[in-house]
Amino acid sequence: MKTIQAVTYPVHFQKDSYQELSKLIDAKNYSTIFILVDENTFEHCYPKFIPNLTTDKRIEVIEIESGEINKNLETCIGVWNAITELGGDRKSILITLGGGVITDLGGFVASCFKRGIDFVNIPTTLLSMVDASVGGKTGVDLGVLKNQIGLFTNPQMVIVDTDYLTTVTDREIKSGTAEIIKYGITYDVKLFNEIKNNKNLNINDLIFRSVEIKNEVVLQDPKEKNLRKILNFGHTLGHAIESFYLESEDKETLTHGEAIAIGMVCECYISSKLLGFPSDKVSDVKEVILSIYNKTTLLKEDFTAIMDLLKHDKKNVNGQVNFVLLNDFEDYKLDCKVSEELIIESMEFYNL
Ligand code: GLY
Repeated sequence: MKTIQAVTYPVHFQKDSYQELSKLIDAKNYSTIFILVDENTFEHCYPKFIPNLTTDKRIEVIEIESGEINKNLETCIGVWNAITELGGDRKSILITLGGGVITDLGGFVASCFKRGIDFVNIPTTLLSMVDASVGGKTGVDLGVLKNQIGLFTNPQMVIVDTDYLTTVTDREIKSGTAEIIKYGITYDVKLFNEIKNNKNLNINDLIFRSVEIKNEVVLQDPKEKNLRKILNFGHTLGHAIESFYLESEDKETLTHGEAIAIGMVCECYISSKLLGFPSDKVSDVKEVILSIYNKTTLLKEDFTAIMDLLKHDKKNVNGQVNFVLLNDFEDYKLDCKVSEELIIESMEFYNL
C-alpha cells in the first residue's frame, strides 16, 4: 500500500486502504459510523465502498443534494439534525464519500458537531483526490462567496481509491486536472510538461505526485501564512469567475476547474506584465488549457460584476485584492497588488 503521511493523518492509496479504515474503527471503538453522500455518490460510489467496510458498528447514511449550490449552512444544519436524530454522540465518526462539496462540508460539520467528532475523507472525484480532501481546509459558501465559513481541521485518514473515478464524467476529470496543472506551474514543472506533452499519462501517478506536492506545501505552512498561498494560484480571479457563473441564471455554471483554468491563464498574463514571467510560457499555459477546456468567452459587460466578486475574496486584506503571481514556473511572489485595468486586460487576453 502506498501512503503519504500528512501532518496528523495518513493518506492511503488504493484498495488496501480499507483495511486501515477498519483498523481505525476498531481501535477507536466508534459508537456509530455516519456516511455522508449525495444522490450520485450514494448510487455509484456507496455500493463500491460498503463491501470494503468490515465492522459490526451501526452504520447510518446521510444524503445531501449534490452541487456547489448546496454547500451552505442550511445543508450543514440538515446534516447536524440528521446526526442528532440518529443518536450521534461524541464517539461517532463521519465518513465523507464524495467530491469537494461533500469532503469540505462534511469535515466542517464533523468538526463543529458537539465541538468535534472524527471524520475520514474518501474523495470520489479527481478534484477532491488531488486537492479538497487533503490539507485540512473545510467549510461552506456564504451565498455565492466561496468557502467564506470554515475551519482548518484534519481528518483521521484520507483514502484515495481511483476506482471511484469510473463513476464521474469526463468534465469532472477535467475539472480536477486544473489543480494538477496548478501544481505543475507553481511547484513542479515536470508535472506541467507531462500534461503538455500528453504522452503515457498515468492518472494514478499524477494523483500521487499531486498529493505529495500538496502535502509538502501544507506541512510547511498549514495555516496559509506564506507558501501555501501558491495553492491559490489561478484561484483569486478563478473563484470570482466561478461565483459569477454560479449566480448568473442565464449562464451555464462552470466547474471549479474550468473557472480556475481561466484564472490561471489570466494570472500568468498578469505575472508577465508585472513580474516578467516569460510570455512564451504564458502562451504555453494558455495553449494547454485551451486544449483541455472549451473556451468560455468572458463578456465585457460582465467584467464589472466579476470585479465586484473579486473584492470579496477571502484572501483580501484591508480591501486590497491579493494575488499570488509568478516570476517563472516554480518561482512565485505572494501578496501582489494588481490594478483593476490590468485584471480586465488579462480577461481580454484570455478571450483573444
Ligand atoms: N485548495 C487550496 C488549499 O488547500 O490551500
